[in-house]
Amino acid sequence: MLAPMSTITALADLEQEIAAPGAGPDRLRLVGTPFVPEVRLHLAEDAILWWARMEAAAGRSLPPPYWASVWAGGQALARHLLDHPDLVAGRRVLDLAAGSGLVAIAAALAGADRVVANDVDPYAVAAVTVNARANQVRVTADGEDLLDGVAGVDLVVAGDALYDAGLAARVLPYLRRCAERGVEVLVGDPDRGHLPPDGLDLVASYPVPTTEPSVDSPVRRVQVLRPR
Ligand SMILES: C[S@@+](CC[C@H](N)C(=O)[O-])C[C@H]1O[C@@H](n2cnc3c(N)ncnc32)[C@H](O)[C@@H]1O
Repeated sequence: MLAPMSTITALADLEQEIAAPGAGPDRLRLVGTPFVPEVRLHLAEDAILWWARMEAAAGRSLPPPYWASVWAGGQALARHLLDHPDLVAGRRVLDLAAGSGLVAIAAALAGADRVVANDVDPYAVAAVTVNARANQVRVTADGEDLLDGVAGVDLVVAGDALYDAGLAARVLPYLRRCAERGVEVLVGDPDRGHLPPDGLDLVASYPVPTTEPSVDSPVRRVQVLRPR
């Protein structure tokens, strides 16, 4: 069972990690994103090693650091927003399941009026804060679980939010509800087996370089989709 952790503690941890001298495979580095070089992110050189060291230091379990890697779905969506700034310019945007905040930062760089990056992992909320700072953009980091409600924004973006069946079973109805209320929705997904057979239209498709562990090919085909 994971002990509850506050976003303030997580932010202090990440700021300390970033400021500490030295380097190594179990450390964070500020690096360019392979498919979105406009955005730099504090990422783990090896997320598993970073996670193990942080758990050992904390003396308890911590959530998997999904925010410490770039995901193919988020990279495709961020690329799409930067290449189609009309989708976000002057609009209110919610990045659902934001992880590092890559898509939120891309939306802000592309001219969004207000951007909220939402993730239930306090470390992801903290990562959004330090990554927005590194890219000199304004993004509000939010840690609430929003999936039982509906978004009050113009555009919801969700990169790689369908990575497990349980989460997909909550995210898909949430996105559908948002779309039914007139919110534009865009999903970036490399098909991890939880895409519904219909109800989503293809908007674009990108060959995305991936650094994800346990993926054989260095490139993944990622679809950007919107609910019909
Ligand atoms: C695979 S990562 C994708 C991160 C980012 N969108 C990207 O593409 O790089 C999925 C994220 O979903 C987050 N997540 C899990 N359950 C969630 C929920 N109920 N609400 C919001 N985010 C959630 C996880 O903490 C994780 O950071």
